[in-house]
Amino acid sequence: MTDGLKIDRLSVSYGKRQVIADLTAPLLPRGQMTILTGPNGCGKSTLLRALAGLNRAGGQAYLDGEPLLDLPFARRAQRVVLLPQSLPQGVHLHVLESVLAARRASGGGEGHDQEVRALALLAELGIAHLALSYLDQLSGGQRQLVGLAQSLIRQPSLLLLDEPLSALDLNHQFQVMEVVARETRRRNMVTVIVVHDLNIALRHGEQVLMLKAGELVASGAPERAITPANLAMVYGVRARVERCTQGRPQLIVDGLIVDELIVDELMAD
Ligand SMILES: Nc1ncnc2c1ncn2[C@@H]1O[C@H](COP(=O)(O)OP(=O)(O)OP(=O)(O)O)[C@@H](O)[C@H]1O
Ligand SMILES: [Mg+2]
Repeated sequence: MTDGLKIDRLSVSYGKRQVIADLTAPLLPRGQMTILTGPNGCGKSTLLRALAGLNRAGGQAYLDGEPLLDLPFARRAQRVVLLPQSLPQGVHLHVLESVLAARRASGGGEGHDQEVRALALLAELGIAHLALSYLDQLSGGQRQLVGLAQSLIRQPSLLLLDEPLSALDLNHQFQVMEVVARETRRRNMVTVIVVHDLNIALRHGEQVLMLKAGELVASGAPERAITPANLAMVYGVRARVERCTQGRPQLIVDGLIVDELIVDELMAD
């Protein structure tokens, strides 16, 4: 059995409404960053919350072969960390203290080493200068970066990041993707990260899962999943993926699809 996360026939409903329907995905290996994407309301947050044990789910997800959904709460909290899409308003606590508290919550030790590690992480994320600032006095993007530091320091086996870039400037977006990729390799985690910007998925993703209405419509290497046909079907846009002068794939959206026939033409290509 290869180590990683295997989502197997997972279903999630709110009341009578099924949002994730019998979802099975290829193995998401440890040490790799998987981008989860899809239109607003397609079920990305619902899926992450189910994996973190916050939404009740049918089916199963296996982490290194162990049934994740059956794990007792305390053990799951140790192995799985979710950075939610909307972060709670910060409390009146220093940034550094809050990162150390997150470490302790996952059973990590205390002391000088932990402080050094926390400060190094803040530095990697470009927010070392905020170590002694109060959480409730930070900007939205700064709070998002601290949330990420709190998630990373816990060193989970499964790291679930729900739109961690949504409040970040261009520089921090790039930096965060590099730090998360590096930490994912270094800690050999399974990382699933929700991102809407598909150029970021093309640039940084090792695998992509594309959802539409709670169903997996594409998976695999970014360039295999992010194709004109899939973009037409999933997002209703006319788009191209072309190589830039440095040979990197770039997504260009030309317009919206108003005519269903265009989708059929693209699918036939
Ligand atoms: N607590 C809830 N109770 C009832 N319905 C919900 C609840 N949370 C989400 N939904 C519904 O489930 C569907 C999926 O929501 P979800 O938040 O998973 O979407 P998403 O893919 O994360 O979207 P976005 O990109 O906008 O964050 C939506 O139709 C939403 O209205
Ligand atoms: Mg969401």
